Amino acid sequence: MQKVLYVDDEKNNLVTLQIALRKWFDVLTLENPEQAIDILSREDIKVIITDQRMPQITGLELAKQIKEKLPNVIIIILTAYGDNETMLEAINQGGIFRYLLKPWDIKDMKQTLVNAFETHELRRKNIHLVNDLITQNRKLQLAYDEIALLKQNLEEENIQLRDEFIEQSLSTKIIGQSKALRGVLRQLEQVARTNTSILLLGETGTGKELFARTAHTLSQRKDNIMVTINCATIPESLIESELFGHEKGAFTGAAKLKYGKFEVAHLGTLFLDEIGELPLLMQPKLLRVLQENEFERLGGNKTIKADFRLIAATNRNLLTEVEKGNFRSDLYYRLNILPIQIPPLREHKEDIPELAEFFLANFNRKTGKTISLIPKKSLDKLMEYHWPGNIRELENIIERAHVLSPGNKLEFGDWFLQHNNSNPNTSQILTLEEMEKQHIITTLKITRWKIRGENGAAELLQINPSTLESRMKKLGIERPV
Ligand SMILES: Nc1ncnc2c1ncn2[C@@H]1O[C@H](COP(=O)(O)OP(=O)(O)OP(=O)(O)O)[C@@H](O)[C@H]1O
Ligand SMILES: [Mg+2]
Repeated sequence: MQKVLYVDDEKNNLVTLQIALRKWFDVLTLENPEQAIDILSREDIKVIITDQRMPQITGLELAKQIKEKLPNVIIIILTAYGDNETMLEAINQGGIFRYLLKPWDIKDMKQTLVNAFETHELRRKNIHLVNDLITQNRKLQLAYDEIALLKQNLEEENIQLRDEFIEQSLSTKIIGQSKALRGVLRQLEQVARTNTSILLLGETGTGKELFARTAHTLSQRKDNIMVTINCATIPESLIESELFGHEKGAFTGAAKLKYGKFEVAHLGTLFLDEIGELPLLMQPKLLRVLQENEFERLGGNKTIKADFRLIAATNRNLLTEVEKGNFRSDLYYRLNILPIQIPPLREHKEDIPELAEFFLANFNRKTGKTISLIPKKSLDKLMEYHWPGNIRELENIIERAHVLSPGNKLEFGDWFLQHNNSNPNTSQILTLEEMEKQHIITTLKITRWKIRGENGAAELLQINPSTLESRMKKLGIERPV
C-alpha cells in the first residue's frame, strides 16, 4: 500500500482522513509541520497532504521548503478558506500538484491521490528516460570517436598502401630499350586506355604478368583493384565458384556466401593468367559474362553487374588449341581482339645488359651485398645463351651468380656451363633460325673462329665457306673482340 503523509494541526482532521482512506492508502499523520521534511526523507513517501493554515508555518511555506529539499515529492494542500488567488499562483509556479477545499469529498480525495501517485511514477520514468538518453548519447559519442579513429587509421593505411604501391610499381618497371620491347610497350599504352579485353601472348617468363600489371596501371581503372587468377593452378572443380562466387548453401560445403572474382574485380581489372588452361566447360560461361557484362552467383538467381576489364595471358598457341578442340573458337575470337605478342628474350638480347644490371641492383638492395661489376666475360656468357626460360631465367641466373660470387664481381662459374648445356626446356623449342645461329656459334668457338680451310667451321659444317659467311652475316654472328 502506498504511503501518504498528512500534516494538520488538528488531530481530528488527521484521524478522519486516515480512517477514510485506509482501504487504499497507508496515511501517516503529523501534527507538527516542522518535522515533515525529516519524515519525508526517512520514509519512502511520495505524496504529502498538508493543511494550509497551521500555527508554525503555512502549507505553502512548507511546500516551498519541500520543493527545495525533495523536489520529487508531490504536494497537495488542504484549505478551509477560499484563498484561491495565492493557491492558483502556487500551482502555476509548479510547486503544488493540487489544492482541495475542506470539507473534502472522499471520492475526490481518493482520485486526487491516485493521480498524484501516477504523476510521481510518470516523472520517475521520465527521469529514467532522460538518464538513458544521456547514457545513449555518451555511447554514441564514443562510437563516433571510434569511427573517427578508424577513419583516420584507414586514411593512414591508405597512404601507406599507396606508398607501397608506388614502390611496387617502381620495382615492376619494364626494363629494356630494344625496339622489340618498346614496340610492345607502345602497343600496350595504346590499348590500355580502352576498355577492350587484352590478350597477352608469349613464352614462359617473357613478362606477361608484368605487362598485365602495366596495362592496368596505364588504364583509367588504375585506382581500383586488379584481381589475378591463374587458371592453371586452380582445380577444375573450384574454378567456377572462384569466378562466379556462390550463395550460402549453394552446394555441400558452401557454408557461407562467397564473392567471385568477377564481383571482386568490379570497376577494376581481372587478370586471367594461363587462360589456355581454362576448362572447356567454363569457356562458354566466361564468354557469356564478357558479352553480357552480368552474371549470377552459383545457386543464386540475382543478376549481378560485372564491370571489369579483362586481361588474359597464355604461353600456348591458342589457335592450335582451337584446332585441337581444347579451346572454343568463339571465346578465342572474343579474346583475340587486341592480341599483344611479347617477344622471347633471345629476340631482344640487346636488353640483357640493362636487365642484368637491374636484377643485380635488386638483389644488392634485398641482401645488402654489393656486387657492382658485371665483367665483360660474364656479360658475353649471358649474351651467348639462348634463354629458353626468358627473363625469368635470366633473373634466376643473376640471383644464383649473386649468391655464388665471392667478391664484388658477378661471376658465372662451371655451374653456368652445366646449366647452359642442360636440355633447353623441351616445351621451349627454338626456331630453326635460332638453332642454326647457336650451332654456327658453337662450331666457330670450336675452330677458334677459323672459317675456311682445314678444320675450319665450313668444313665441319660441310658447307661452302662463302655460304657460311653469308649465313653468319644474315644471322648477325660476329667474332667477339
Ligand atoms: N622487361 C622486364 N623488365 C624487368 N623485369 C622483367 C621484365 N620482363 C619480365 N620481368 C621479370 O621477369 C619475371 C618473369 O616475368 P612474368 O612473371 O611477368 O612472366 P610470365 O610471362 O608471366 O611468365 P609465365 O608464363 O611463366 O607465367 C618477373 O620477375 C618479372 O618481374
Ligand atoms: Mg605469368
